[in-house]
Amino acid sequence: MRVWIKAVCFASCLSVGVEAEDIAKLYQQDCALCHESGVLAPSSKSIAIAVKKKYPKKEDFVAFVFDFIQHPSKEKSLFGDIAYEKFGEMTSQDGVAPKETLKALAVYLHDTYAKF
Ligand code: HEC
Repeated sequence: MRVWIKAVCFASCLSVGVEAEDIAKLYQQDCALCHESGVLAPSSKSIAIAVKKKYPKKEDFVAFVFDFIQHPSKEKSLFGDIAYEKFGEMTSQDGVAPKETLKALAVYLHDTYAKF
C-alpha cells in the first residue's frame, strides 16, 4: 500500500505543472546526472550536436530523443560503437517520469544545448 501511494505520487507529482523551471531541475536530476561531466555518458552538448546534425528540424530532433530515451539501442545510437565501448548502453528512462515530462526533457535538451 505504501509503495503504491509513493508510486502514484511520483507520477502525479512530476506531472503537476511541468513549468520551464521544473524541467530545468528535472533535467539536472534525470539527464545531467549522467550527461553532465562526460564521464558516465557523452556530455549534453555533444549529444545535442550529434542529434541536431542528423535531425536539424526541432520536431525531428525531439521525436528522436523522445523515442531514444525510452528505447535506447545500438541500432538507433548515433554514436554507436564509440559510445558503447566507452559508456555502454543508456538506461531506458521509460517510466522514470510521465511521457509528457520525457517529451519536455527532449525539448529542453534541444532548446538549451542545440541553439547554435
Ligand atoms: C544512467 C545514465 C544516463 C541517464 C540517466 C541518461 N542518459 Fe542519455 N545516455 C547515456 C549513455 C551511457 C549514452 C551513450 C549511449 C549511446 O549514445 O547510445 C547516452 C546517450 C544519449 C543520447 C545520444 C543518443 C545517440 O544517438 O547516441 C541522447 C540524445 C541522450 N542520451 C539523452 C538523454 C536524456 C534526454 C536523458 C534524460 C531524460 C538521458 N539521456 C538520461 C546515459 C544516460
